[in-house]
Amino acid sequence: MSTEGNGVVSTGSTTRAGSTTRAGSTTPGIAAGGLDEATLAELREITTRYPQPRSALLPMLHLVQSVEGRVTSRGIEACADILGLSAAEVSGVATFYTMYKRRPVGDYHVGVCTNTLCAVMGGDAIFERLKDHLDIGNDETTEDGKITLEHVECNAACDYAPVVMVNWEFMDNQTPESATTLVDDLRAGAEVRSTRGPRICTWREAERVLAGFPDDRADEGPAAGPATLLGLRIAKERGWTAPGGEESGGTGSPADTKQQAQDTSYSDRARSETDIEESGADTAGGKDDVK
Ligand code: FES
Repeated sequence: MSTEGNGVVSTGSTTRAGSTTRAGSTTPGIAAGGLDEATLAELREITTRYPQPRSALLPMLHLVQSVEGRVTSRGIEACADILGLSAAEVSGVATFYTMYKRRPVGDYHVGVCTNTLCAVMGGDAIFERLKDHLDIGNDETTEDGKITLEHVECNAACDYAPVVMVNWEFMDNQTPESATTLVDDLRAGAEVRSTRGPRICTWREAERVLAGFPDDRADEGPAAGPATLLGLRIAKERGWTAPGGEESGGTGSPADTKQQAQDTSYSDRARSETDIEESGADTAGGKDDVK
């Protein structure tokens, strides 16, 4: 995701040559009441990536958000027209997934994980502090249009709890203080980097990447950090292997593991049945009673 200048692109700025992102603009090249031709062409282009064009709907909606700042009615209609769907079908998708927004989002979407692990590690406190500091509630945007605050579910980054995401980039191991500094820096236009390296771009720029138009920054930052790799390192140091690994001659694949579990289950059951028969135990209650 690219960043312009100091890392801040105000809502409504240009993100692609020749097309403005301000909803309702009357800039030449924008069809009255509809999306501009360049956006329509890109929406059609997305459909060519899939064997079934309707599979393109999710990235198409991200592209609409990158241009409109949210999923607008005309964005829904454009997607429906191109895919041969009803507006209700497209709307049903747009309202099901939480990454699609029907209300305008600020330049920076700040998601605070308040799922179980992050919550107990401080996520709840961070969220409360940011609500107070920004003077907004959940899913609301600051008056200057810079920050939209939302509490989000687990981001599969629990090893770095509590985490905050800015436009889907990770800010690991946060505290109420660091999160407050983070939003202040974003509002002030300072260059902000994810704790994993990449520069933070605007929400619209991030949405364009999610639509499948890369900004060639996917390799910024590490693939996995020390906390994520800690278990692997300890296992290697101690020579531990997963069940179904080298020791048993298996490949460790899910199929092998499942087969071995099944084999173990069968042999356990056979052993139980033999034990019962040999001991002359009363099996009137049925072998199934013996677990
Ligand atoms: S609980 Fe927050 S990332 Fe998993």
